[in-house]
Amino acid sequence: MSKNDLLIAQKIMSDPYYNHNDKMFHKDSFIYMKSNELIKNYQKYLENREKVLSVIGSSDQILNMILGGTKELDVYDISRFPKYLLGLKLAGVSLLDRDEYVNFFYEGNKKGNVYDNIYDELRKNLDDRDKEFWDGLFNFYDWNEISNSSLFSNEVISPPYVKSQNKYLRKDYYKKLKGLITDVDINIYEGDILEIAKAFKTKYDLVYLSNIIKYLYENSHNLNDYKELMKDLKLTEDGIALTYLNGINSVVRDTFKRPNYKIDQFKDTRSGVLVYKKTKE
Ligand SMILES: C[S@@+](CC[C@H](N)C(=O)[O-])C[C@H]1O[C@@H](n2cnc3c(N)ncnc32)[C@H](O)[C@@H]1O
Repeated sequence: MSKNDLLIAQKIMSDPYYNHNDKMFHKDSFIYMKSNELIKNYQKYLENREKVLSVIGSSDQILNMILGGTKELDVYDISRFPKYLLGLKLAGVSLLDRDEYVNFFYEGNKKGNVYDNIYDELRKNLDDRDKEFWDGLFNFYDWNEISNSSLFSNEVISPPYVKSQNKYLRKDYYKKLKGLITDVDINIYEGDILEIAKAFKTKYDLVYLSNIIKYLYENSHNLNDYKELMKDLKLTEDGIALTYLNGINSVVRDTFKRPNYKIDQFKDTRSGVLVYKKTKE
């Protein structure tokens, strides 16, 4: 672990504004404990992918990809912190039963030293980097303080919503995932995907970009950089790049057109996914 990561996390714990910035996402920005996306509606795109490049975020999509059969993942995030939650969730899936896992990560409604005891179990499965980071927080704070601090997003997402959206949280699939995660190879990268995309040399059959597009558009009111990013991505012949769209509007429809792009709008919502495939432009 970079000692710096822990020092910055400790500063955020003692000063809630320490990681506030003009931009929503940056190298010290918060972690999503849970995904706010309608993952159930696009789970089909996460299935049967061998080699994936994915944003880390809450790690929920990554766990659903592993459940779908992915064994090799390159994962990235602009923030230094989500990778530590990924390590903790992987340890959680290995060691906790489904209800304990849901309670620890999504409900957090127990008092006393329940979560300290759970963390004592989880740390046995953490690699040195993750252990040093979480030990450095658990030595001073309890899990409720950590998970309610500015280190995490304060967006309210209910546990029933999380359970309904994540295939891996169904009891039968959660058990299956326990078996699958032991076989997975995960490489972690830190940085802005617009800057680091060219450096990835392997071809992926899925690149997952969440709704990063929304924040790029809010910053620049321009989607050309995003279209350039699509061209930089290395995809297999059937590979796709998947973008989550919170609101499908005329700008999106006019910018992203066939044959390279397909918009899959979810039934009865304004949300959907943008599916990019490499064909001749
Ligand atoms: C875009 S956010 C949105 C959360 C998402 N809707 C979910 O359900 O998880 C997901 C992750 O993207 C990361 N991120 C945002 N902009 C990025 C960028 N330009 N490059 C790499 N990661 C980025 C954030 O740090 C965050 O962890």
